[in-house]
Amino acid sequence: MMARPAAFLCLLLLWPVVSSSTYTNMTMPGCKETCGNTSIPYPFGLDDPKCFRDQAFRLVCNTSFDPPMLSFPEDNIPILDISLLQGEATALIWVAKDCNDSSSNSPPDGVRAQGQEMKDAGVTVQINLTEGFKFSNTRNKFTAIGCNMEAFMSDYVNPNGFQSGCSSVCGNITNVINGSCSGIGCCQTSIPRGLDTFQVKLQSNSYDDSNCSYAFLVKDEWFSFMESDIWDFIGRVPYKFGNQTGTPVVLEWKIGNQTCGDSSLQVNYACRDNTECINSTSGSGYLCHCKNGYHGNPYLPHGCQDIDECKNATHDCEGSCVNTLGSYNCTCPEGTVGDGYNYKVNGTGCTPISKSNKVLHITLGPSTSSSLLSRFEFDDNRSGGTDEGYRCSYRNR
Ligand SMILES: *[C@@H]1O[C@H](CO)[C@@H](O)[C@H](O)[C@H]1NC(C)=O
Ligand SMILES: *[C@@H]1O[C@H](CO)[C@@H](O)[C@H](O)[C@H]1NC(C)=O
Ligand SMILES: *[C@@H]1O[C@H](CO)[C@@H](O)[C@H](O)[C@H]1NC(C)=O
Ligand SMILES: *[C@@H]1O[C@H](CO)[C@@H](O)[C@H](O)[C@H]1NC(C)=O
Ligand SMILES: *[C@@H]1O[C@H](CO)[C@@H](O)[C@H](O)[C@H]1NC(C)=O
Ligand SMILES: *[C@@H]1O[C@H](CO)[C@@H](O)[C@H](O)[C@H]1NC(C)=O
Ligand SMILES: *[C@@H]1O[C@H](CO)[C@@H](O)[C@H](O)[C@H]1NC(C)=O
Ligand SMILES: *[C@@H]1O[C@H](CO)[C@@H](O)[C@H](O)[C@H]1NC(C)=O
Ligand SMILES: *[C@@H]1O[C@H](CO)[C@@H](O)[C@H](O)[C@H]1NC(C)=O
Ligand SMILES: *[C@@H]1O[C@H](CO)[C@@H](O)[C@H](O)[C@H]1NC(C)=O
Ligand SMILES: *[C@@H]1O[C@H](CO)[C@@H](O)[C@H](O)[C@H]1NC(C)=O
Ligand SMILES: *[C@@H]1O[C@H](CO)[C@@H](O)[C@H](O)[C@H]1NC(C)=O
Repeated sequence: MMARPAAFLCLLLLWPVVSSSTYTNMTMPGCKETCGNTSIPYPFGLDDPKCFRDQAFRLVCNTSFDPPMLSFPEDNIPILDISLLQGEATALIWVAKDCNDSSSNSPPDGVRAQGQEMKDAGVTVQINLTEGFKFSNTRNKFTAIGCNMEAFMSDYVNPNGFQSGCSSVCGNITNVINGSCSGIGCCQTSIPRGLDTFQVKLQSNSYDDSNCSYAFLVKDEWFSFMESDIWDFIGRVPYKFGNQTGTPVVLEWKIGNQTCGDSSLQVNYACRDNTECINSTSGSGYLCHCKNGYHGNPYLPHGCQDIDECKNATHDCEGSCVNTLGSYNCTCPEGTVGDGYNYKVNGTGCTPISKSNKVLHITLGPSTSSSLLSRFEFDDNRSGGTDEGYRCSYRNR
């Protein structure tokens, strides 16, 4: 059979094609992947020490809630989401509220600092994050809602440290407008960089216009003030665990407290195969990212897997696409010439060659394998060739 050598070459050309899985594991083998709706990607993990990197990344899953609640072990702060890419986690911080509660015997006297839901009156919300975690100062705002109230925020562990706050009045209730949180019914202030602890104090001077005052830390993009909030903010917050209500807050995390260069020499360096190290923006510690062309969990051995650009259509081929480790090549189908790449990357695409030309041209991306090409043409000539040529399919497997 004269066609055999060409068929064999077709197989040869297809040989370097790389197979890649679309699903990549996010946990160590045998470790729980989720708690309720929340994924727990390594270096985070539950229970078994092999499941998390070190104590800073140990979490607990409390199944007595529905859905189960993922949280830090000591402070019971629920975690809604963990981002490996950004080095962020979304946590819930309880809302401090102070209401003119008819069931409460202690009428407001102007200095009352009533506290966190579920806690006894007089105790404010106090948060002390696990070491290594910080409140993002760029993505969160300290926010308070109410008419004729003042809210204070300070460092909990070191009360002489940072202190801040804001106050709000309503006056004529028609002054309160949706979306505007600038001192009329609602007020906001930024938090300092690197904050990992805070406490809230709330002081309502009168309840003439609203029944409750609230103060909380919140992710900027999540919160938008509504007029109805001065009557009932808690009611529209969907995050409830037991009878506690929290607002989503962005926390920052990182690995260790050294930069990439220093850390890469150490035995417990966190970044595994096919990764790159990113210095944390906080100035100490680092994060790992999968290299371009790979995806998955950079903290796991073999966690970063090749992306099949041909399969998920993120390539710039005009011709056919061939996946490679970390990248892909473009080829032109039989009967066409060009580099196979489209105009977006200044490619020459694939142009049909004239019917009369009996030599079959195959182009293999930027650096063509000339030996394969010439042997292919040789075989093609020996077999006499046809206008149709041989049918080699370069479409991804
Ligand atoms: C992913 O996890 C499964 C089950 O633990 C295991 O069989 C498989 O080998 C893992 N894949 C990789 C790439 O580690
Ligand atoms: C789960 O939460 C409930 C209510 O807060 C608490 O009583 C219980 O001890 C928690 N369980 C675990 C395992 O932390
Ligand atoms: C979370 O889980 C609950 C049930 O456990 C389900 O009803 C809900 O749709 C889930 N939410 C998301 C965003 O997946
Ligand atoms: C919250 O729930 C606990 C029991 O789950 C209860 O003892 C407590 O009184 C409740 N607090 C409020 C403010 O409803
Ligand atoms: C806050 O946490 C740090 C460690 O994360 C601990 O050393 C400190 O004692 C805690 N402070 C309070 C008041 O709980
Ligand atoms: C509040 O403002 C509206 C419109 O400006 C006005 O009609 C109303 O009388 C005011 N109410 C009070 C109590 O001042
Ligand atoms: C608190 O509410 C009660 C009953 O709703 C009301 O009589 C009282 O004036 C309110 N207190 C203040 C300070 O507004
Ligand atoms: C850096 O981390 C190590 C171990 O996690 C800890 O012992 C050390 O105190 C940290 N240094 C600083 C400056 O935070
Ligand atoms: C990380 O920061 C250190 C010290 O500032 C610097 O020498 C190093 O080049 C940085 N590494 C990366 C990957 O940015
Ligand atoms: C292609 O796959 C990568 C990695 O899974 C993913 O990040 C990207 O969004 C995908 N693109 C498309 C268009 O599906
Ligand atoms: C395409 O060519 C232009 C002009 O030579 C150049 O400026 C541009 O960077 C090229 N784009 C790509 C993706 O190579
Ligand atoms: C992809 O192209 C590169 C250089 O352009 C070449 O070295 C490599 O062999 C090609 N890989 C495949 C699978 O065609």
